[in-house]
Amino acid sequence: MMEEEGSWEHFFAVHLPPTDFEDNRSLLKEFCERHDRHGHKIVLVTSGGTTVPLEHNTVRFVDNFSAGKRGAASAEYFLEHGYAVIFMHRQKSLEPFTRHFTGQKLLDMLDIQERGPNTTITVKPDSVDVLAPVLLRYKAAHSAGAILHVAFTTVSEYFWLLRAACESLSALGPRAVLYLAAAVSDFYVPKDRVPTHKMQSGSGAPVIQLHLVPKMLAPLVNLWMPSAYVVSFKLETDENLLIPKARAALDKYKHKMVVANMLQTRHHRVVLVTPESSQEILLTREEVHAGADIESPLVASIVQLHAASCGSDVTRAPLADCGPAPPR
Ligand code: PMT
Repeated sequence: MMEEEGSWEHFFAVHLPPTDFEDNRSLLKEFCERHDRHGHKIVLVTSGGTTVPLEHNTVRFVDNFSAGKRGAASAEYFLEHGYAVIFMHRQKSLEPFTRHFTGQKLLDMLDIQERGPNTTITVKPDSVDVLAPVLLRYKAAHSAGAILHVAFTTVSEYFWLLRAACESLSALGPRAVLYLAAAVSDFYVPKDRVPTHKMQSGSGAPVIQLHLVPKMLAPLVNLWMPSAYVVSFKLETDENLLIPKARAALDKYKHKMVVANMLQTRHHRVVLVTPESSQEILLTREEVHAGADIESPLVASIVQLHAASCGSDVTRAPLADCGPAPPR
């Protein structure tokens, strides 16, 4: 059967799965089956931006602004609420727990005593209070086997992983939450128009025509995960478009919620739009200065709405009941 160009079926037909796809598919399957056996809730958190390669041997690519803070912070709060977490993230974007110590922050917390072969590295006394609580939560999540990391770079890798995650999660029915915070490319260069090798400047300025990426929310909500609690995100730079476009997405895809945010204010203001209501979450200036995460109240609200949407079924078992993943 020939798939229609521009459709999601055509996208999968022309883009081969990534080389590590089968490994990730097995990890996803094992993770979901293990938590399903214990009656746990699982959230799939997607995070970071996707790239669009301009060459097959990729030197240049189209990218976007997303750092992955929303996804990384949200994953931590879902763990606190007893969810097992599939953290599906852009390679090298922010990750749960380590996000607190990026760049020089980690090195500033350490002291080194150089004594030849007995060199020791210690945590500075005033950094122990900062490091210890995060380290404790990190160790607890990993020793309980409560978080699985899978990584993508390009938009096609993202879609292959997304569909594989849905395949494994579908058995959980309403106990699965999809939290689609990744910034997914809307435009791409079709595979057959991408040159094999690095574009040469000697050939003059290239003209690159971008095509529309099919919206994966449509098959995801209708075919892959019809009973899951699906939360998509809407990012705009024009405030006038934000809520109307969030409502239009809900009308079109018929999922549970759109989290609407503006590029400039995304880390202190979001609006939760459901078919019945709109709820704004706003951090005060003091909260922002104190380093509060807006993802804490955001995830708390979603957890509450998820529980209400599927009743007592979602609170069956504490996460601690589930053992760690078997060694790889
Ligand atoms: O990572 P940070 O720097 O912390 O920033 C967080 C964020 C701004 C990236 C995040 O809060 C956010 O808004 N993410 C979604 C951005 C986005 O892709 O919005 P959109 O309006 O282009 O897409 C809307 C929805 O459609 C998304 O949930 C996406 O999963 C989905 N989509 C998008 C493209 C596509 N081809 N298929 C899709 O299904």
